[in-house]
Amino acid sequence: MGRFIVEGGFSLKGEVKINGSKNAALAIIPATILSNGPCLLKNLPNISDVKLSFEILTKMGAKIKKQDEHTVLIDNTTINCNEVPFELAMKMRASYYYLGALLTRFKEANVAMPGGCNFGVRPINLHLKGFKMLGANYEIDAGIIHLKAKELVGGKIYFDVVSVGATINILLAAVKAKGVTIIENAAKEPHIVDLANFLNSMGANIIGAGTNVIKIKGVESLNSSSYTIIPDQIEAGSYMAMAAVTRGEILIRDVTLKHLESILNKMETIGVKIKKYDSSVFVSCNCELNKADVTSQAYPGFPTDMQPQITAVLTFAKGTSIITEGIWANRFQYVGELCRMGALITVDGKVAVVEGKQTLKAAPVTACDLRAGAALVIAALGAQGKSEIENVSYIERGYENIVGKLKDLGAVIEKV
Ligand code: EPU
Repeated sequence: MGRFIVEGGFSLKGEVKINGSKNAALAIIPATILSNGPCLLKNLPNISDVKLSFEILTKMGAKIKKQDEHTVLIDNTTINCNEVPFELAMKMRASYYYLGALLTRFKEANVAMPGGCNFGVRPINLHLKGFKMLGANYEIDAGIIHLKAKELVGGKIYFDVVSVGATINILLAAVKAKGVTIIENAAKEPHIVDLANFLNSMGANIIGAGTNVIKIKGVESLNSSSYTIIPDQIEAGSYMAMAAVTRGEILIRDVTLKHLESILNKMETIGVKIKKYDSSVFVSCNCELNKADVTSQAYPGFPTDMQPQITAVLTFAKGTSIITEGIWANRFQYVGELCRMGALITVDGKVAVVEGKQTLKAAPVTACDLRAGAALVIAALGAQGKSEIENVSYIERGYENIVGKLKDLGAVIEKV
């Protein structure tokens, strides 16, 4: 799986370029299945989850041509299969987006129950409820979800829990359905808007993405498109966290400031100085870090995907911080690893109490998921001594060239 050796205590200085959004890319790649011609995707992050998504498409018969590291031409006209192989679906949560995309394309989809990061039970009842409202029947047999519809017909779908994945899947299934679909209590995350913009660029008729009511008027066909994916706000936030714990100065380039509001706001509370430019942000920190209380929420609230990273930062702050996880049942599994480095954190259900401490000490630690891994990198960069972080393939699922980027900023880090 690979290991990072990180020597802490070096101030990070310089510039870092943020890559395209993982979670937008993982929704937009399956959406290309709906086009009647090739699609050119730009600013795709070069990460293992994106590579896995290409592997899934290729297995189904797609032709994928890489034009450069971040630009790919996807031709799905040759796809002749409505099934995602079990061994691939199991590796990634976002494999469930092939349900919505294949259902629209073939009126049938067969996809294994998805794998991915484990932060407690991750149900897909809302996805299935939405597909049913559109006229599909489903059956789960031997871990495979089988979906079938004679025709897809639009309707009103209300989600009692805000779900990014269910909102995306229903967008994919409704975009060519007969009539109008209305999603109420839809998720508002930037990657929902990005997917809707991509679908509209192919000829879809979607309005309201980014609000909690999305209206989709089904269209007959969708055409080729050339589309640039938005920057990854979680990658940007993670580098801010690294600047904070190392008392660094980093110009974070190629970001969308609007998507970073909740993270910037919390960084300022913690004591990070922020200068905003059009598509970049300069963060610096040369003082003691302040405590802060953080509750993760659906967008535009503070993202759950930054919760482990901000917790790592607050272990270095002065005072006691309360972190409340508002989305996932069990997203504090990494805390034990931070405690190995000397962090003082207690967890009770969805609440963690961090007693800030001015120093952490290096230790051998293990990443248990993607953002947990990022939190350990942050802690190791701020700690005294050489930490060893195991299971870094989790981190590489979502952070392009993290070792190279950190080295360019002056970090002492190696992958072995
Ligand atoms: N939920 C249900 N029923 C469902 C679906 C979700 O009850 O059918 C609940 C979940 O249990 C959870 C809440 O709704 O409590 C939110 O889950 P959501 O469906 O929004 O999560 P997701 O679509 O599975 C995406 C991201 C996650 C991110 C969450 C929340 C992708 C591929 N994954 O997951 O990203 O944490 O939204 O913002 O987009 C990550 O990037 O590290 C990551 C885990």
